[in-house]
Order: sequence, then C-alpha cells, then structure tokens
Amino acid sequence: MRIGVLTGGGDCPGLNAVIRAVVRKGAGVHGHEFVGFRDGWRGPLENLTRPLGIPDVRGILPRGGTILGSSRTNPFKIDGGPAQITENLHRLGIDALVAIGGEDTLGVATKLHELGVNVVGVPKTIDNDLNATDYTFGFDTAVNIAMEAIDRLHTTAESHHRALIVEVMGRHAGWIALHAGMAGGANVILIPEIPFSIERVCAYVESRFQAHYAPIVVVAEGAMPEGGDISSLEKGLDAFGHMRLGGIGEWLANEIEQRTGKEARTTVLGHIQRGGTPTAFDRVLATRFGVAAIDAVHGGDFGVMVALRGTDIVRVPLAEGTTELKTVDPTRYAEAEVFFG
Ligand code: F6P
Repeated sequence: MRIGVLTGGGDCPGLNAVIRAVVRKGAGVHGHEFVGFRDGWRGPLENLTRPLGIPDVRGILPRGGTILGSSRTNPFKIDGGPAQITENLHRLGIDALVAIGGEDTLGVATKLHELGVNVVGVPKTIDNDLNATDYTFGFDTAVNIAMEAIDRLHTTAESHHRALIVEVMGRHAGWIALHAGMAGGANVILIPEIPFSIERVCAYVESRFQAHYAPIVVVAEGAMPEGGDISSLEKGLDAFGHMRLGGIGEWLANEIEQRTGKEARTTVLGHIQRGGTPTAFDRVLATRFGVAAIDAVHGGDFGVMVALRGTDIVRVPLAEGTTELKTVDPTRYAEAEVFFG
C-alpha cells in the first residue's frame, strides 16, 4: 500500500515518535510505502508532500514538534475542499491515510472516511480531553513542564512574599491545571469546568500567607469566575471556530492585589508547554499508538482510531473519539481541593 501520514492541529510532544513508529513498522515489517503530507489537512488539499522513508525518521524519537509540520486548516470550511483532497489522494496513488490529531483533525478524518477515504486516526492533544482514550501523548510532557515551572515559582514567591499566578493551557478542560497543580502543591487550582468564587480564592491566598508560605494559584486559560463569561477572554476564532483565550491570569492578579493588599504577579506558560522533548511516558504511548495505527491500516480496518484503555491499546470508531470532550469531573477536583488554602 501507499500510505499518507499527516499531523494536524496544535503540535504536541510525541508526534515524531508516532510518525517514526508508523514508518518503522509500516515499511520495515509490513513493506508499505509512505508519503508525508505537510502542515495538516493543507497537505492533501494543496498537494504538499515530502518523502517519508525509514531514513527520514531516524533520530526523531526524542524531538518535539512534528517533522511534517502542522496547521489548523479545515478543508470543510473551504469551497470544494473535501473533493480537492479526494482527487489529490487519487492522483498521488494514496491507498490509505494515517491522520494524527485532536478532535478537529479527527473530526475531518471522520467526515472524509464517510466520503470513502481509507483513514486511521491517532489521537493527540496536550489537553488530554479526548473522551475515547484514557490518555493522549503530550499531556504528560505538558504537565511536567508546568510542574517544573510551579516548583521554580515557589522559591521566588516565598522570597518576595508574593502571590504568583500560573496560567496554563486548557480552554474547556482543566486536566493540565489539575495535574500540574496537584504535582506542584498549588494553593488553589482553577479549571474551566467549575466556575470559581474570587472571594474563596482570596481567602485561600490569605490563609497561605498567614502560614508564612507564599501562594501559587494555578489557573487554566478557560477558567472563569462565577457569573463570568468566557467570551470576555476571547482573542479571535480559529478555522474550527475555537476561541483563542488569554487574560484570566492577569485578571486574577489584579483582583488578588486589590482584595488582599498583597502583591500578585502572573506567569503565562503558553506554548512552552507544547515545545521540546517528550517525556518517556509520552514517547512510549506515542510509539504504541503508531504501531497500532499501522497495524489497523495493514489489516484494512479503516474508520477507526487507536486509544489507550487502561494499559491496552484498542481500536474505537473514529466518530467516537470526537463526539464528546473528556472534562474533569467533580470527584477528581475534590481530591485536589483537600490541599487548597
Ligand atoms: O489544543 C491544544 C492547545 O495547546 C490548547 O491547550 C490551547 O488552548 C490551544 O492549543 C492554543 O492554540 P494555538 O497554538 O493555535 O494558539
């Protein structure tokens, strides 16, 4: 078979490990041939390809980002986009596609499969918010980066008797905030799923100062105060209609300063959370996903994505992976809440 591979959406540590595994098993064991599509769905849309043989994937296991490039191009928002893709795939002699991406990229894969394209999906997002899989690769790396930042911020916060606010990624799901905040001993963790009371946040901050210990507030970019409106943080929409957010950390620092009289500063971690080398956990998960995905292609099992269930890699229908967002449930939040204040 001649198989196309693409990576779409926000980049994520471990993407290269998936590509390497797909090609190493696909070419080395099953004897298939590969074509790399550049920049997500823009690749098959505009015929942007690159060679993707075993020599091309040497040395990429520990590298962050994606050698294929990525984009948030949505072919279904472009006039004649899907037809253009099927035509280009036909012209290039592509028998099947491995699409590595989050809910948007896999949503496009689902629709293309319905149009007759042979697709297998690999779930990816640092947000860990895809319902069909217990974990996505990239999440563990993002959490470790945020945890290390929190560890570092503790010592400077204590030296200056300041409250430090750490804004992490997570528009609709607070998994990064929850895990990094728990691992880093945050004073309070604020997530999009549960609107927060600014009075309670300030009470936690004050109680930590009383214990002669400087507070670290971890806030997900999509977290909102009670009665607040997420659109107030909006900085524009992407091609899939998602809001770009920003500003909750700054807002919190101002409120905390005004209400407690203590100095407060904000650190926005932003894309640092997505950059650089993946952790061992993410390299192993990404590699297992890649191997499982190419096995599905080899067996002609299309319209599925690979997923982690417990410690097993399974196949689930592509549509299942993108219909529901996995958000933090109140029980998980309650475990973290024990340590607030
Ligand atoms: O979906 C992954 C993610 O990193 C989110 O956590 C974040 O809100 C978003 O992408 C940022 O998107 P961009 O890199 O396009 O600004």
